[in-house]
Amino acid sequence: MVEASKKEKLEEVAEEVRSCTCCRLCEERENPVVGGGSLDSPLVLVGEAPGRREDEQGKPFVGSAGKLLDQILKKVGIQRDEIFITNVVKCRPPGNRRPRAQEVEACSRHMAAILGIVAPKVIAPMGNSSTGYFMKRFGLRRSNISDVHGRPFPVETDWGSVVLFPLYHPAAVLYNRGLEAELLVDFQRLKGFVYGTSSN
Ligand code: URA
Repeated sequence: MVEASKKEKLEEVAEEVRSCTCCRLCEERENPVVGGGSLDSPLVLVGEAPGRREDEQGKPFVGSAGKLLDQILKKVGIQRDEIFITNVVKCRPPGNRRPRAQEVEACSRHMAAILGIVAPKVIAPMGNSSTGYFMKRFGLRRSNISDVHGRPFPVETDWGSVVLFPLYHPAAVLYNRGLEAELLVDFQRLKGFVYGTSSN
């Protein structure tokens, strides 16, 4: 039997997400956001949840935080279409509130399915919600993003050894411009882990 391609597998996940009613976020969503980019990417960036623009377009990081992310990617020389970008929850929380623990939990099977398809070398959660989710999932001590950003955490997954590399959320920079330089330095370091010039 011919194995389904990564694209077909992602479409199956997208179909499941479109019909998912595992939490109440399904009640107000326009378009769930499964994620986008290269399914062969060595890097998966994981934000918190879709905002209004993302919900309208069904694509991740297309609003103001997305514009800032694009600028940072450009500055460090990472092509957006060569990486994969998603969120811990796939549907927009009303009023852009933070997703609740139960919603993150309900969405974790979709997250696991997507990561299993892309099988990246590096997972970079952006912000506290996403970082907290992955620290817990990999049995690491839950810490605040300001303590762990820009640090690599080696973890084991079903597809092999992976580096978990927490980053500030780009939206945090919109509220505190002072974080931009740190986010840039972290992204430069991240690039080294993704493209093989750093080992710790
Ligand atoms: N913030 C996120 O965490 N994800 C998006 O897709 C957009 C904004």
